[in-house]
Amino acid sequence: MSNLVIIGMQWGDEGKGKIVDLLCPAFGVVVRYQGGHNAGHTVKFGDRHFSLHLIPSGILHPGTNCVLGNGMVINPDAFFEELENLIAAGVEVEGNLFVSSRAQTILPLHSILDQAREGALGEGKIGTTARGIGPAYELKAARLGVRLGDLGTGDLRGRLEAQHKRIAHELNQLGSPKIPSVDELEEQCRAWASRLAPYLKDTSRLLNQWLSEGGDLLFEGAQGALLDVDHGTYPFVTSSNATAGGAATGSGVPPTAIDGVLGVLKAYTTRVGGGPFVGELEDEMGEELRKRGNEYGTTTGRPRRCGWLDMVAARHAQLVNGVDVIALTKLDILDHLEEVPVCVGYRYKGEVLRDFPSELGILESAEPVFEIRPGWKSDTTGVVDFIDLPQQAKDYISFIEDGLDAPVGIVSSGPRREETIVREVAPLRRLTENLLDSIVAGRGRLGSS
Ligand code: GDP
Ligand code: IMO
Ligand code: MG
Repeated sequence: MSNLVIIGMQWGDEGKGKIVDLLCPAFGVVVRYQGGHNAGHTVKFGDRHFSLHLIPSGILHPGTNCVLGNGMVINPDAFFEELENLIAAGVEVEGNLFVSSRAQTILPLHSILDQAREGALGEGKIGTTARGIGPAYELKAARLGVRLGDLGTGDLRGRLEAQHKRIAHELNQLGSPKIPSVDELEEQCRAWASRLAPYLKDTSRLLNQWLSEGGDLLFEGAQGALLDVDHGTYPFVTSSNATAGGAATGSGVPPTAIDGVLGVLKAYTTRVGGGPFVGELEDEMGEELRKRGNEYGTTTGRPRRCGWLDMVAARHAQLVNGVDVIALTKLDILDHLEEVPVCVGYRYKGEVLRDFPSELGILESAEPVFEIRPGWKSDTTGVVDFIDLPQQAKDYISFIEDGLDAPVGIVSSGPRREETIVREVAPLRRLTENLLDSIVAGRGRLGSS
């Protein structure tokens, strides 16, 4: 039995979807444990292309059970839309998709509030995805949330009234008073309840049952360590625990059942939305990375802010996640460079900080300290054997391994499943229960698991 958590080590969009899809054959179950449809996970194989937002990337592997855990916030309309798109694309979803009755509902009020707040913040806005994620988590913590399992119950009306009162008051102050009535909300919720019924389960019980039968769980993190509400660049974060610790609380599986953590790290850094970004490239180089890396949001289409790899931030991600093995993605995007700068420290008031600071003021005014690594100036797209990488690229990888004290077990050399190097490193073999060989073989099999 092996249960693995996959998390993003930066500000999201590291390529988690690709890595979950790649490793899926070693696991019977894929679980999302936090976030909602703010996530956008891309999976490509052959000429097929999928963008997953709520539904775990494992859904593309026939026979894999997929769970949306209690730690998620779910907009039922977004769920059904994604489901219909998958069905239209010929993906099998019957009987293998389970949604926690304890997950929170994103109501239409929440996205209206999310947008109105962002509008009011102006320059200082978070740059949220406007999906209502923050308000939904906020009401959960305030104990006013509507769980999916509450949608059809007698308790619903009182909960809707309490939320409506609170949100209407705030929206009125923000100058956007038009919101659906409690009656309209109730009607909507009751309709969702009957449509959702076939999928709703006590998923904590289900997952623990599978564990007791020897099942293997793959936890699919969304967002990234630096967007985590506790460990990220607060307040410019999302509202959930995107780090590995969230996998236990967000799924109802005991932390002792988790055997390891795989961190997905992009070979450079991106961030969508507002907030500090030491070393952001606001020049032509940033534009070049954005173009080469196609760095536009999967969910909102917004251009992603770009910079070089930031080892100070990545070491913080390592510290709070305990990453056993790294999947390094988008190495190919750096192929053309003569030199590859890496941020190894933050200069602040004449001092060089090596540890990621928690203070927003420091993060906003620190300057990056770069170490220049030699580039490899050759095309690595689609390379599948480590041995075929140029020496300078291998050196770049060793530099990352030394700095983060974890081996790079996977190197992604292109967006597609088959464009991947899987390396024989002990933690990866252990965490995939010796299924490495079949993963390597499956990598090349187009359109199937
Ligand atoms: P996620 O949110 O972490 O799943 O990442 P996204 O899917 O939002 O963004 C990653 C983007 O990079 C997607 O468009 C992927 O298809 C693409 N991608 C992933 N790995 C690689 C890679 O190694 N090379 C290239 N060129 N693209 C990649
Ligand atoms: P995946 O899973 C990148 C960012 C938003 C914003 C902040 C808060 O694809 O990596 P929210 O709507 O969550 O309240 O917005 O978090 N953000 C992401 N950035 N990838 C994501 O998900 C993100 N999900 C949220 O841009 O800065
Ligand atoms: Mg994404």
